[in-house]
Amino acid sequence: GSPKYRLLRQQGSRPSRHLPDTLIIGVKKSGTRALLEFIRLHPDVRAAGCEVHFFDRHYQKGLHWYRHHMPYTIEGQITMEKTPSYFVTKEVPQRVHHMNANTKLLVVVRDPVTRAISDYTQAASKKADMKRFEDLAFVNGSYAVVDTNWGPVKIGIYSRYLEKWLHYFQLSQLLFISGERLIMDPAYEIGRVQDFLGLKRVVTEKHFYFNATKGFPCLFKSEARSTPHCLGKTKGRNHPHIEAAAIERLRDFYRPFNNRFYEMTGINFAWP
Ligand code: A3P
Repeated sequence: GSPKYRLLRQQGSRPSRHLPDTLIIGVKKSGTRALLEFIRLHPDVRAAGCEVHFFDRHYQKGLHWYRHHMPYTIEGQITMEKTPSYFVTKEVPQRVHHMNANTKLLVVVRDPVTRAISDYTQAASKKADMKRFEDLAFVNGSYAVVDTNWGPVKIGIYSRYLEKWLHYFQLSQLLFISGERLIMDPAYEIGRVQDFLGLKRVVTEKHFYFNATKGFPCLFKSEARSTPHCLGKTKGRNHPHIEAAAIERLRDFYRPFNNRFYEMTGINFAWP
């Protein structure tokens, strides 16, 4: 063909870096790593290896900087990134919208009580003399008042954050993935994700096996390795025992927010 046509074709077939089409924006400790590792099995998905934190921490560095943290793709491949703090950072919805108003957004959510305990467990693993969960989640040493300023509690009020996203994005641009179902039936959730992204259903139940020792679904092979493996040690930690009364109080606290979230998303996640 003409030189112009040749050039266009070259540009399309030569790998280059692109700003993401799709973001996993959260929610922290809900299964975001599992989602990313599972969806990137798809040959038409390429993802940044680590959390780039562009929209929350490095925004001033500009889109050029961001693009250089993206993997090489060829035409037809989706560029993806996951940074779970995006979901809860105030400025991020507007910034993502400014980059690309058509960005597809993936949100993994999990029972906010378990999520809070998971968040706490992660923090405690990094700090030797951490107070008990029960002492941090409530004000004044009784279970009367929930401490909504404590990050692990606050992040679980999903409806509050979702509202901010819906100022900039249509609900149809967001896909909500159940963190519980991602564990029970990963193929089902990954099927939904592939449909949402307009991808052929390539990642199926054949890719997963349940590892009884790990207690989680694991992969026969992945983008990085061709042998069976699970997510790392920091995913699927043992949680400390939490007093039943504290759990119950937190469940009561979240119930109205959860119901609001079900209304907003049109999905009943059926958290206890
Ligand atoms: P726990 O470690 O508290 O069990 P994130 O990747 O967003 O930090 O989420 C971590 C959580 O992902 C883990 O929390 C675990 O429950 C969940 N998860 C979901 N699928 C998993 C899998 N296949 N392997 C390990 N953890 C998984």
